[in-house]
Order: sequence, then structure tokens, then C-alpha cells
Amino acid sequence: MATSTQTAPKKVHRLSTSVGLKIQMAVTGLFFVLFVLLHMYGNLKMFSGPEAYNGYATFLREVGYPLVPGEGVLWILRILLLVSIILHLHAALVLWKRGNDARGPNAYKVRRGRKSQQTYSSRTMRWGGIIILLFIVYHLLQFTTLTISVGAEAYADMTPYDRMIAGFQPEVWWSYAFYFVALLALAMHIRHGAWSALQTLGVSNRRREVAFNWIAIAIGAAIFFGFMIVPTAIMAGFIS
Ligand code: HEM
Repeated sequence: MATSTQTAPKKVHRLSTSVGLKIQMAVTGLFFVLFVLLHMYGNLKMFSGPEAYNGYATFLREVGYPLVPGEGVLWILRILLLVSIILHLHAALVLWKRGNDARGPNAYKVRRGRKSQQTYSSRTMRWGGIIILLFIVYHLLQFTTLTISVGAEAYADMTPYDRMIAGFQPEVWWSYAFYFVALLALAMHIRHGAWSALQTLGVSNRRREVAFNWIAIAIGAAIFFGFMIVPTAIMAGFIS
């Protein structure tokens, strides 16, 4: 009797296929974009004065009370954001490693034409992703844990409105510059991410592809300008 030396193919879970991982990236990325849009809307309340902005900051902490105690809803949001970032990063790293393994050691030989376009995009996504991660750490140390009081003595003794004003004074232009670069990276990351997500979902029609590309550019631009308008207005002295 002939014995087979072949082992049965390993069963791959649907979520760990490349398409599964791209869907994981799209869903977590979309959740993050929704948060970013809400956050941007909240920041624009700076134009309505201290009462409106401080009221919004208090609302964020108290929303759901007494149904959910303390900062319950805010903590649920924080945990969901953290889980989203971890899952997004995990999928990106696995897909990146698979791409590298598939290309093999002679990868540089095929970097021509459309391939070089792909290499440019993936490089932008990787560097952009690293800048965004560094920005989130800096941003949380500044405005959430209040560990670094940029442009002031101690953020802990100030209102949310006054912290924002202090954080974007001309003396701390370097912090403004970091926000500028990070928001640019975020806008480019979201533009490319939205476009890739649509490709994963099978938008193969050329005309639709062009339209979706423009939608992705519009989302990226709205995020960049919508966010940067507040620090820029503070820097220029329009909000004080
Ligand atoms: C110009 C750009 C931005 C400004 C001026 C800004 C400002 C702020 C401020 C003032 C807070 C604290 C709010 C409070 O005291 O209640 C905050 C919180 C936060 N921001 Fe931003 N933000 C910006 C962009 C972003 C971006 C692009 C992200 C995400 C990629 C982000 C993520 C967060 C997170 C996660 C929190 C913490 C919410 C919490 O746990 O309390 N921010 N931001």
C-alpha cells in the first residue's frame, strides 16, 4: 500500500487571509476616521469661545452619566481606539511581511513602472504611520495625561480652552510644526487608506475609481484643514 508523504494543507482562518487582513485594516481605519472627524468637529468649538469649548470637554467626560459611572463612555472609546490601533498595526505588519517574503531577496530588480509607484505608496504609508504613532503619544502626553505642559507652567491647573491656547503660542512654534507634519501625514495616510480599502472591496470600474480617488483626496484635505485651522488661528492671534 502506497503511503502518502504529503501533509494535508494547513487550514487558514478566513480572517488571516490577505483579504481578511485588508478588511481588518479597513474596518479599524474607518472607526479611527470617524473618531477623528468627531474630534475635529469638537475642536472647531474653540471658535465659539471658552464656554462652548469647556462645555464640550466636560460633556465628553460626563456623557452617559449616571447610566455609565464617571468617565465610563470616554474610557470605552479610549479602549476601542487602542484595540483598533493594535489590530490596524498588526494587519499592516503581517501584510508587509507577506509582501516582502513573496518578492524575495531580489525585490529591488522589479522596482520599475507601476511597481515603483507601489513602493512609493507603501513607503509613504510606513513613514506616515510611524509619524502618526509618535504624534499620538506626544498628543496624549500633552492633552490627556497633562504630563508635558507645552507653552505653560502646569496644564493641570488650567481649563481645556486655556491649555489649547497655551499649546499653540508663537513661542512654541516647534509644537505647531509637529502638528502640521503629523496632520499632513495623517491626511495622506487616510487618502491612501480610503483608496486601497475601496480597491479591496472590488471597485474595479475605472470611472468609479477616479471618482473614489477624488473623494479620498477630499476627506484627507478636509481633515488637514479642519484640524489645522484651530492651531493656526491661535498662532495668528485670532483666538486668544
Ligand atoms: C490640530 C490637531 C489637534 C488638536 C489641536 C487636538 C487637540 C486635542 C485636545 C485639546 C484634546 C483634549 C481634549 C480635552 O481636554 O477634553 C485632545 C484629545 C485627544 N486627541 Fe486630539 N487634537 C488634534 C488632533 C488629533 C488627531 C489627529 C488625533 C488622532 C490621530 C487625536 C487624538 C486624540 C485623542 C485619542 C485624544 C484623547 C481623548 C481622551 O482620551 O481624553 N487628536 N486633542
